[in-house]
Amino acid sequence: MATIEIQNLCKTYGDFVAVRESSFTIQDGEFFVMLGPSGCGKTTTLRMIAGLEVPTAGHIHLGGEEITYSPGSQRNIAFVFQLFALYPHMSVQDNIGFPLKVQGVSRKERKNKVEEVARMLQIDHILKQGVGGLSSGDRQRVALGRALVRDAQAFLMDEPLGALDAEFRDLMCEELRLLHNRVGATTVYVTHDQVEAMSMADRICVMEKGEVLQIATPDEIYARPTSKFVGGFIGSPSMNFLPAQGGIDSGAKSLAVKGGEVAIPEMYQAITSDSAWIGARPEHITLSDQGALRGETVSVEYMGSRQLVVVDTECGRLRVRSDNHIPVKTGDNVGLDFDADALVVFDGHTEKAIDSALFGGTAHG
Ligand SMILES: Nc1ncnc2c1ncn2[C@@H]1O[C@H](COP(=O)(O)OP(=O)(O)OP(=O)(O)O)[C@@H](O)[C@H]1O
Ligand SMILES: [Mg+2]
Repeated sequence: MATIEIQNLCKTYGDFVAVRESSFTIQDGEFFVMLGPSGCGKTTTLRMIAGLEVPTAGHIHLGGEEITYSPGSQRNIAFVFQLFALYPHMSVQDNIGFPLKVQGVSRKERKNKVEEVARMLQIDHILKQGVGGLSSGDRQRVALGRALVRDAQAFLMDEPLGALDAEFRDLMCEELRLLHNRVGATTVYVTHDQVEAMSMADRICVMEKGEVLQIATPDEIYARPTSKFVGGFIGSPSMNFLPAQGGIDSGAKSLAVKGGEVAIPEMYQAITSDSAWIGARPEHITLSDQGALRGETVSVEYMGSRQLVVVDTECGRLRVRSDNHIPVKTGDNVGLDFDADALVVFDGHTEKAIDSALFGGTAHG
């Protein structure tokens, strides 16, 4: 296993910049998830690491060795595009053993290795079967086996669960994560699904328009997004954004919003900007009698132990995750209180979190 170091990596197609000056290090044994909307450059980055795409500029090191321009076939990296891409006419064991056969590994050694991987994936009882009749779960395990059998220095996976239905995806997510805990392989996993990223990653790298916006652990990225984009992209329902009227003044303990006044964390109180947004997660707003802000309930959605209450206010539509023992119904006029310490304030111009800009926190963690 090995670290992967990316330095100032760029990829352009004519005038179009697909990946812009990416720099980050993936630690040995880390489960690193690249997350972002369609077209943000995830696959392009992964393909440069795999050697399927030549970078326009920058460097890639694998285990300390520069591999930027070495051919993909010479990199000891396993790439799983889509777990369903199996050789249909071959048996399970031949599918798994195929990369070793290409490498010229002896039949006996191949057999041992395939059996070991199959045991780990709990598919050793179907080794002799064709892959045609397998369930989608087993097909998925076979494809994973084919990547694992190689003893690669790193695993790259590009939306491997994309084609699965929701329930099965959850199961495979869990299995992949357990497998990773056992094998400890350096893994780069690409997805546009933030729930998948949050549940699997050691660290998440959020990209937008070819740029890395933030790299951090799931809880850090959830609690302290460094930009409005990241705050809005991570979390479901999304973070609420309230425009502060007249921005933020140094020394202010609260910000005026249309129809109310919202207390802000102390760390923002030394900052001045003529334009600002308050970011509030749905669970950091509570229903109350008085409230810092008032509004009308437009829907109440039951979510087990919680309820999602949608409230129209003068600051726009806000989503509130509240305990379901609090009685509220559509049409109620309700007060809203904000958990001051959990709020994030973004500069209205740069849309970056004000604390990360001011106190030296870097976007690239
Ligand atoms: N060979 C190419 N020529 C021109 N443009 C390309 C080429 N390959 C990719 N692009 C463009 O680069 C951008 C990034 O593409 P990429 O496939 O990396 O996105 P992605 O983040 O993987 O998106 P998705 O979630 O849709 O898979 C896209 O706008 C894409 O159209
Ligand atoms: Mg892609």
